[in-house]
Amino acid sequence: METSVGLRLTGTAKQAIQPERGERFIDISHRRTCDCPPSHISCTDAKSWIKGQLGVWQFNYNGRDIRDKKVHPATFPIALARRWIDLLTHRGELVLDPFVGTGTTLVAAQDSGRNAVGFDLHPDYIQLARERLQQPRLDTRTQQFAINADAREIPEYLPSEVVSLIVTSPPYANLLNRPRKNKSRRGQERRNDQYLKVEQYSSDPRDLGLLELEQYAEAMALIFGGLLPLLKLGAHCVIDVPDMWWEDRRVTIHVALIEALRKAGYEFRNTVIWDRTNIVNRVGIFGWPNNYITMGTTFEYLLDFRRPPGRPTNGNATPDKGTDGGAIPYGLEARLDSEPPSSELGRHR
Ligand SMILES: C[S@@+](CC[C@H](N)C(=O)[O-])C[C@H]1O[C@@H](n2cnc3c(N)ncnc32)[C@H](O)[C@@H]1O
Repeated sequence: METSVGLRLTGTAKQAIQPERGERFIDISHRRTCDCPPSHISCTDAKSWIKGQLGVWQFNYNGRDIRDKKVHPATFPIALARRWIDLLTHRGELVLDPFVGTGTTLVAAQDSGRNAVGFDLHPDYIQLARERLQQPRLDTRTQQFAINADAREIPEYLPSEVVSLIVTSPPYANLLNRPRKNKSRRGQERRNDQYLKVEQYSSDPRDLGLLELEQYAEAMALIFGGLLPLLKLGAHCVIDVPDMWWEDRRVTIHVALIEALRKAGYEFRNTVIWDRTNIVNRVGIFGWPNNYITMGTTFEYLLDFRRPPGRPTNGNATPDKGTDGGAIPYGLEARLDSEPPSSELGRHR
């Protein structure tokens, strides 16, 4: 039976799919259910748009967020995923998180009436993500799936040009794979129950958290290169990542990622700084008085890429067949047979 995304019916709304090899397509919708004008990038209103234009964002964790590092060492707040989903997608569209961890992106998608699929290598995180999705919900028309699989396999689960947004926080090369020294904490707090613990996600050889920066960047180029065709033309891909310090050297994970994704064919659009100063407390002193360094726990990079939209070849909306295989850019599809674009700004995702 032909379905909205996948080619076969393999699951129900509440059940994540674990089909056999070659039978992995997911049955999930990716179409707008709102009545926004076709040229709009998302359902967001002008007020939230202005907030989204600021280059520095803060979030609070709430009661549904997972902050216990024994449960997962590196979650982001539901509000972070929610902000990007609201800014860059319409209700009913499909969001993808290739490194979904405890399912935070899926919870945000469920809250906002978006369909979503998340993947993680670690079965315990996937189990937790599925439990979180059992929360009471207002919208029952969308689906969110948590799937236990390697991010490298995602193209086997989804067809081309169905994803409206990737939002994710990948592992940070092999930087969690060492005893935690808690240097950002002061006094007694330094020797808390995480002290000298290794917080890596797993010892699975496919775990990207075990790779050195160079191999990590290559793996990321490969994984995100595989995800690019799944994005609708012009759709965005947002990656949350910190830099880190190792032996007094800055490990520029964000630079490695920008280079890797550009190499994979993404267009780099925006950097937003996630200002975490409202959620870190009792910060220790580093480097004073002779070695100036900023403290990594106080901010992270939100790197915003997009799949390049089809470029008009002759001044009208005909996409460049050479680069995009003749597909119609995301957002233009509906506009071509209805109203003209409301503004130049509205043309771009
Ligand atoms: C920074 S965490 C994501 C946390 C998530 N944003 C949350 O709020 O729970 C990165 C995740 O990537 C997963 N991971 C590592 N290598 C992977 C791979 N090859 N494929 C899929 N997931 C992987 C880890 O198990 C970890 O949960």
